[in-house]
Amino acid sequence: MNPFKKIFLFVLTVIFFVSFSTIRAQTYAKNGMVVSSDRNASESGVAILKKGGNAVDAAVATAFALAVTHPSAGNIGGGGFLVYMNANGEVTTIDFREKAPLAATNEMYLDKEGILVEDLNHMSIKAIGVPGTVAGLYLAHQKYGKLSWAEVVQPAIDLAANGFIFNWSLYDDAVAFQMDASATAFMKSYFHNEMGELLQPGMNWKQPQLAKTLTLIRDKGRDGFYKGEIATKIASFMKENGGIITKKDLDTYEAIERKPIRGTYKGFDIYSMPPPSSGGVALVEMLNLMELADFKELEFNSTDYVHFLTEAMRRAFADRAQYLGDPDFNIDMPLDHLTSKAFAQKRFQEIDMSRASVSDSTKFGQLYDGESTTHLSVMDKDGNAVSLTYTLEYSYGSQLGSPELGFIFNNEMGDFNPQPGVTKSDGQIGTAPNLVAPEKRMLSSMTPTIVGKNGKAYLVIGSPGGRTIINTVFQTVLNVLEFDMPIRKAIEVLKIHHHWLPDVLVYEKYLLSPDTRKSLENRGHTLWGYDNLGALMGITYDPKKMILTGASDSSQPDGGAVGY
Ligand code: GLY
Repeated sequence: MNPFKKIFLFVLTVIFFVSFSTIRAQTYAKNGMVVSSDRNASESGVAILKKGGNAVDAAVATAFALAVTHPSAGNIGGGGFLVYMNANGEVTTIDFREKAPLAATNEMYLDKEGILVEDLNHMSIKAIGVPGTVAGLYLAHQKYGKLSWAEVVQPAIDLAANGFIFNWSLYDDAVAFQMDASATAFMKSYFHNEMGELLQPGMNWKQPQLAKTLTLIRDKGRDGFYKGEIATKIASFMKENGGIITKKDLDTYEAIERKPIRGTYKGFDIYSMPPPSSGGVALVEMLNLMELADFKELEFNSTDYVHFLTEAMRRAFADRAQYLGDPDFNIDMPLDHLTSKAFAQKRFQEIDMSRASVSDSTKFGQLYDGESTTHLSVMDKDGNAVSLTYTLEYSYGSQLGSPELGFIFNNEMGDFNPQPGVTKSDGQIGTAPNLVAPEKRMLSSMTPTIVGKNGKAYLVIGSPGGRTIINTVFQTVLNVLEFDMPIRKAIEVLKIHHHWLPDVLVYEKYLLSPDTRKSLENRGHTLWGYDNLGALMGITYDPKKMILTGASDSSQPDGGAVGY
């Protein structure tokens, strides 16, 4: 063969293999898998699996690592939920949602005239809830981990102390904070190196204060955060800046183990988070409705399909607004009724396939809430699985933190209903179950979910995205269970969102045809196009082939499905 042709073919082959390995659609493994929004963090989790740790050890290590490498949502200053299924198919959950401080009241965001003060519940020191992440990870590890606590915290300390490559996404955020006149001083200097210069992409980013904080947590466990030096510094920071969180708030914070919400879908078992997350209840409600649909008529992406999904979402979110809140304060929530097949039958009869229903703004509604949350999914070689979603609420939470401690506080108080009795068509809600009260947990939409088949984990899935979380997880579960899509496809195909009020059907631009949009409008829907919904992180397990398949949403440029 002509030598030029040979070289040309060789170069083509190299290009093909390089592209194939870097744009690989999904990751396969036999011994364990971690999927998260940041590859460094996923690798920390897999290193723990390789050391002999189980899925809980790896999830805890990944969550601490995300607090270092993915600080917009990875955290030790926020809270979240963990669903755990062991190799025998037993499922439990850990609730480490933030709590309202002891001094909180249901009028704390109102002025003297009883009017809501703009943004006080979202972007102020009073928006910070008592953090739950360290207590939650500690409880999960104490009960279900295998390696020592020090071993699972250490990878995050290494990332903070030795540094890691400052990527373009972090740089993009860093520049945005420099350009934003309203950004806090803490965030303006957050991405500076020791010389006080803004880090550039490709540089090594070290976080010595965060490394010190994590070292205290490694050495003293839960109490390293909620008592002693860190607690004293948090309480002083709050006092100096007009906050209300005290040492007593920290000392009394406890994570709670709760029974999962359980549902079924055509022979699969669905396990997800109970209140104070609304995720599990709404997910099961919607799957029950979908189980009644005739999928021969309801083709994926068709007008009928999108219409039916929308009507399922509208109803589940209306129930969310009416009934759900912290179970420790709302002891009579009708969870069994809402998640029953009989209730789905009743709801099914109400749906008119030719017309959109109308969300009644005189009844219930809810605020659009923060999108910056992050999810990680883990499975180990024995079949243990963890689905963990945690959050700071907004991207970089309250944007507040003590430079001495090196981490960012949440602004989760914004997830409470801010003004008793005031519900508006724009989405502000004032119903009782989710009003502020001392030590109450704010209602969440986080939906960490595990689907089981014959008593084994089959799908581990979750997403960030505020209220869109429930709907993007719902559609991804449906894509895997009903349409048999591989996990990557299930994550990437069209997602839509409706959350009762405002009465708007949100869809991913470019993924819904103009003709379908027109027919949906003709049925009475108002449509808004969004670039992207969700950032799903999922793993499926094929019990016959004994292969794990993982995929991280392409919306997360630094995400990583790492297996071994
Ligand atoms: N902060 C978002 C959620 O908890 O749903």
